[in-house]
Amino acid sequence: MQRDPKLVPRHVAIVMDGNGRWAKKRFMPRFFGHKQGVDALVRCVQACSDRGVEYLTVFAFSSENWKRPEEEISGLLGLVLVAVSKYLRKLAEKGVRIRIVGDRSAVNDKVRAAWDEAERTTAHNTRITLSVAFNYGGRWDVVQACRRAVREGVAAEHIDEAMLSSLTALSYAPDPDLFIRTGGEVRISNFLLWQIAYAELYFTDCLWPDFDEAQLDAALAAFAGRERRFGDVRAAAAQPVGGG
Ligand code: FPP
Repeated sequence: MQRDPKLVPRHVAIVMDGNGRWAKKRFMPRFFGHKQGVDALVRCVQACSDRGVEYLTVFAFSSENWKRPEEEISGLLGLVLVAVSKYLRKLAEKGVRIRIVGDRSAVNDKVRAAWDEAERTTAHNTRITLSVAFNYGGRWDVVQACRRAVREGVAAEHIDEAMLSSLTALSYAPDPDLFIRTGGEVRISNFLLWQIAYAELYFTDCLWPDFDEAQLDAALAAFAGRERRFGDVRAAAAQPVGGG
């Protein structure tokens, strides 16, 4: 599908918040909300792909989520395995390339193997790239990029924005154009701090499991109504090099 960059963002990033409250409203355990959240995510990938979005990046587990009750953490890790076995083939057939971003060292072997399988199986797909941020934090990303630069012996005078960007976890993607957060909170919560410098921000009270095509279209309509200036008062035509 041909994408009009003024109407449809190339890269959408989403904080999928509100699973717990969605479940609570139904007198169900929080895990039930996360399970519905996976289904909402798969629907959202398809809807984004249908509209010509090329990159979708979602926050599935933050560096801070380890502070949650152990039962919820193991539920979320188990859900990775369920999600991969239930949806990987379908997503692969739809042309979805899956990438996992975040610190994999802290997850167990089974989860790591599931991520590896998801990435390997979909590596050659080109329709849309779904990046799942898992054990990810925006500050972690900046720190790991700096550490890589030092390890690779980069001289201080050679460190600039483009160079550091190339070492971040999402270096293969353009910067997000549209940042969506569901669930009613109005904050970034240590998601893509470096990458969203020029993203349009969109917050909705909709709880993530209820986020459907109509909700996505409302976010895209809000995006289409924004004038993007990238710091330039002369308006919308200007775009930073390599940015979105
Ligand atoms: C925030 O809702 C959501 C999360 C911490 C997890 C998001 C995860 C998914 C949507 C599914 C997992 C995805 C994969 C790929 C396995 P919350 O629990 O903070 O909700 P609340 O604010 O209502 O309590």
